Amino acid sequence: MSFSENLKANFGGIDPRFQTAALYGTAILTAVYGLYLWLLPRPLAGIPYNKESVKSIWGDVLELRADTGGLAKWCGKQLERHGTPICQALMGPLSKPVVLVADVPETRAMLMGRSDFDRSAYIIDRFPLFGEFHLNMKTGDAWRTSRGWLKDLLDKPHLISNMTPRIYGHVLTLLELWEKKSGLANGHSFSMVDDLRDLALDVITNFHFGDDFTDSALARQSHHVGQLDSKNTRLPVGKNGEVEFPQAPLHEFQEGLIETGDKMADIYTTVWPPALVSFWVRYISPHYRPFFGAKDRFIRDYINLALKRLNNNEPLQTGLDFMVSREKRGAVKAKKPSVIGKQTMVDEAYGNLIAGQHTTSAAMVWILKLLIDHPEVTNRLREELQTHLVEATQENRLPTVDEILNTRLAYLDAVLEEVLRLRAAMLVPRDTTRDTELLGNRIPKGTSILLVCQGPDFSPSPSSAYWRGTKADAARQFPGKESKSPEHFDPMRWLVQNEKGELEFDGTTYPQLGFGLGVRSCWGRRLAYLEMRIMTTMVTLKFDFGQVADALTTHEASYDISYRAKQGWVNLTSRGL
Ligand code: HEM
Ligand SMILES: *[C@@H]1O[C@H](CO)[C@@H](O)[C@H](O)[C@H]1NC(C)=O
Repeated sequence: MSFSENLKANFGGIDPRFQTAALYGTAILTAVYGLYLWLLPRPLAGIPYNKESVKSIWGDVLELRADTGGLAKWCGKQLERHGTPICQALMGPLSKPVVLVADVPETRAMLMGRSDFDRSAYIIDRFPLFGEFHLNMKTGDAWRTSRGWLKDLLDKPHLISNMTPRIYGHVLTLLELWEKKSGLANGHSFSMVDDLRDLALDVITNFHFGDDFTDSALARQSHHVGQLDSKNTRLPVGKNGEVEFPQAPLHEFQEGLIETGDKMADIYTTVWPPALVSFWVRYISPHYRPFFGAKDRFIRDYINLALKRLNNNEPLQTGLDFMVSREKRGAVKAKKPSVIGKQTMVDEAYGNLIAGQHTTSAAMVWILKLLIDHPEVTNRLREELQTHLVEATQENRLPTVDEILNTRLAYLDAVLEEVLRLRAAMLVPRDTTRDTELLGNRIPKGTSILLVCQGPDFSPSPSSAYWRGTKADAARQFPGKESKSPEHFDPMRWLVQNEKGELEFDGTTYPQLGFGLGVRSCWGRRLAYLEMRIMTTMVTLKFDFGQVADALTTHEASYDISYRAKQGWVNLTSRGL
């Protein structure tokens, strides 16, 4: 009996149209169920996960999205929940599980010694707008070439002679702007977020273009606010005692950097595929598309200026001067045509302009927020600055940049280190380059690992081996230094007592992943430290930090290019220097 005869025999009395419909219905239901089963998360064997999450195609995603603490905090909580230094997060339909690790020695080994981990798709896939920027490449020849252009540009001699006076100059403009603002605000709070963004933007623009580009976002703001007349300006006061200042329009290149940077941050968290949004932004959007063409031309023009100087044997000055000269030398040596002015070099400059600005400004906002939250830390810091920068104090003036850089300021270093630890820019990700093993678990090739070794507010699970192999809890105790749990903001944890009984900074006491580790660690670290050091010193000496309403001091944050505070307010009074 054929299939249709069989059907007829069994369902003889039923309308054949209904039979067909029932058949199709069953087939569709089976297919949908099959699809559903196929979309359910498939956890890696042996690594803990949330048992409930396996039952939904969304895995952990809905819970993760609902967590106001964001990705970093949620990941820390997962490890605590399981009480293990390794677990996995199920990232929704069509996504592979992501492995979370909080074990310091294992993390160090992964980043510094082992070759079975590389730059992660977790970053590369989310930032297609970076183009051929070395941050967004797997470790290989292209990465080596791009990184080679920059290599030692942030080593001491170059950094000190080229960048320190510039950074100091921009910080002075910030102080000038804030002096004007604090006068006009008259005891009310104002937002620091855009001004610190402008500081980071001016510094990184200056690094690339040197004196070829003299426009300054901060100088424009300062000029703009300077035109507000203190007698006739009544700034409306918000319900938390805050005022808002008008923003000056910036140079179109810097304005574009800010806007596209913000867009890249949005892409990081969008539910749309990043590649699609990126394509739209770059090639279709009437708002963003023109900028991409314009910034490529703009950067290329400056590369050509640098090339002209090189061909005239003029001394190298700007970041681009060095990039161009190195590429030229490298190409001659390798007997290859050079890529000077090609998209890869434009993308390298653009990438650093964005990456350097977002991360550093986020860190500077956290520094001042945490200082405002902790007046005892601010007082101690100011006392250290005043006693160690003794000439400046005696002469009742602000320190010079040389004084700041040539003076040992252990507590300042400790404050910066503690902010970076507790408010790390990101969970450092790596992908496995082959089937491998981590803390006794098998991990297939192509798995993303997030290293959850630190903030924000990270508390290690009790049974995790978090402190294993670190000096943290060793006998480095002295009066006034208690062992506080990792989620506390406590600069003292970075200080040790030397034989003479003096306190010294020791950056190896606690785990620190603020800039990553190993060959793929942050290239801009030294520039960022320099900027943070000068800004923090000058602002602390120049101003007293007044009270800011509780509603304005929350630590709500967003996690995109960097872990960024949603708000940051200051209430400044000039200390008359
Ligand atoms: C406080 C400020 C900054 C923080 C917290 C920060 C943090 C980081 C982190 C965590 C990484 C990943 C490291 C890893 O995967 O091991 C990174 C990479 C990188 N950062 Fe930064 N960064 C900062 C400032 C800067 C600045 C100012 C620049 C440029 C001048 C910069 C350029 C880069 C580049 C190019 C990479 C990629 C390195 C590579 O893939 O080989 N960063 N940064
Ligand atoms: C700002 O600080 C000053 C001085 O400490 C204080 O008198 C004032 O009330 C503070 N403003 C707000 C809005 O809290």
